[in-house]
Amino acid sequence: MYICICKGITDSQIREAVCSGASSLRSVRQQLGAMTQCGKCAAQTRQLVNETISEI
Ligand code: FES
Repeated sequence: MYICICKGITDSQIREAVCSGASSLRSVRQQLGAMTQCGKCAAQTRQLVNETISEI
């Protein structure tokens, strides 16, 4: 499922980034480019990052 439409980033990519060491929202943004355009994906990305961190 697409989380960031602007950059075409999926939930799987975000989970993968977190599992590969992107341990914060900022790291995910820097690594994938999510939230760098309209910003509408920020809340969903934050939730997904927090969920993934709590699972690992
Ligand atoms: Fe992610 Fe626009 S949907 S920056």
